[in-house]
Amino acid sequence: MDIKSLEDRFEAKIAAGESIEPKDWMPEKYRKTHIRQISQHAHSEIVGMLPEGNWITRAPSLRRKVALLAKVQDEAGHGLYLYSAAETLGISRDEMTEQLLSGKAKYSSIFNYPTLTWADIGAIGWLVDGAAIINQVMLTRTSYGPYARAMVRICKEESFHQRQGYEIMLTLCNGTPEQKALAQDALNRWWWPSLMMFGPRDAESPHTEQSMKWKIKRKTNDELRQQFIDITKPQADILGITIPDPDLKWNEERGHYDFGDIDWDEFWQVVNGNGQCNKDRIAAKQKAWDEGAWVRDAAVAHAEKKEQKKQKLSA
Ligand code: 3HC
Repeated sequence: MDIKSLEDRFEAKIAAGESIEPKDWMPEKYRKTHIRQISQHAHSEIVGMLPEGNWITRAPSLRRKVALLAKVQDEAGHGLYLYSAAETLGISRDEMTEQLLSGKAKYSSIFNYPTLTWADIGAIGWLVDGAAIINQVMLTRTSYGPYARAMVRICKEESFHQRQGYEIMLTLCNGTPEQKALAQDALNRWWWPSLMMFGPRDAESPHTEQSMKWKIKRKTNDELRQQFIDITKPQADILGITIPDPDLKWNEERGHYDFGDIDWDEFWQVVNGNGQCNKDRIAAKQKAWDEGAWVRDAAVAHAEKKEQKKQKLSA
C-alpha cells in the first residue's frame, strides 16, 4: 500500500474514533508525539513520588502514613504502566531514563516545588491530583489504545489520591487556627503552579492544534484549566480558605470563573530547569538509577541463565 493510502486509512480510523494500536501504521509525527507525551507523563509520575515521599516518615499519624505510602506506591505503578505504553512505540526504558536524567525530556513543572509542611501533602492530593484527574479522564479517550487503557486504570487510583488530600485539608481547616493557617499557606503556594500543570495557553502551545486533530487531546489546555478552576473554587469555599487570586470571580454570562493572569515567566523558568527543586529532583533520580544498577544487572543475568537452561533442555 502506498503512503497516501496508509495516511488515508489512518485518518479514517481517527475520524471514526477508532483506537490506533501498536501494530497499526501511523505517521512518524504521531508516534514521536506519543513517545514525547507518554514518556514525560511517566517521568512526572516517578519524579512526583519525591516531594510526597519526603513526608512518609513525618506523617502526623499511622493512618496518614499508610494512606500516603499507598499513594506514593500507586504513582510508581502509574509510571510503570506509562513507560510500558511508551515502549510499544519503539523506545526502550533505558533511552527514556537517559532522556530524563540528561534533561532532554521534561516532567511536570509542579514537582519542582518543595513540600514545606504537612498541609502541602493535603494540597498536592487535592489540587495536583485534582488537576491530573481532569487531564487524565480526558486522556482515557485519547486515540492511542495503550495510552487510553493505561489512563482508565490510573484514573481509578487518582480519585483516592484526590480524596485523601482533600480530607487532610478538611481536617486542618476544621482544626485549630494554626492548622487552618497551614492549609491556607499551602493553598497560597500550590494554587498557581497547579494551574500551570495544564501547559501554556492554547495560543502559545506548539502541539495542541495537531494533538486535537489526531484526538490525542480531546480538550485543549485552556479548556481543561478552566474546568479545574470551576470545580475547585467551590471546594475551597467548603474548606473556608481563600484562593490567592483577587480576580477569581464567577462570570454568569460565560458560566465559568474569570481568573487572574498566570505568571508564564515563572512557568517557563521552572520548565527550563530553573525551579526551586529541579536540580535536587534530577540528582535524586540519578542516584536511584546508579544505586539500582546491580538490580538491573542481576535481573538480566537471571533472564539470560533461564534462557540458556531452556535452550539446553530443548536441544
Ligand atoms: N510541565 C513541564 N512541561 C510542560 C508543562 C508542564 N506543566 N506543560 C507543557 N509543557 C511542555 C510540553 O511538554 C511541551 O514541551 P516539549 O515539546 O519539549 O515536550 C511545551 O511545554 C509546550 O506545551 P504544549 O501544551 O504544546 O505540549 P503538550 O501538547 O504536550 O501539552 C500537557 C502539555 C497538557 C502536559 C500534555 O503533555 C499532557 O496532557 N501530558 C499528559 C499528562 C501529564 O503529563 N501530566 C503531568 C502530571 S502527572 C501527575 O500529576 C501525576 C499525579 O499522579 C500526581
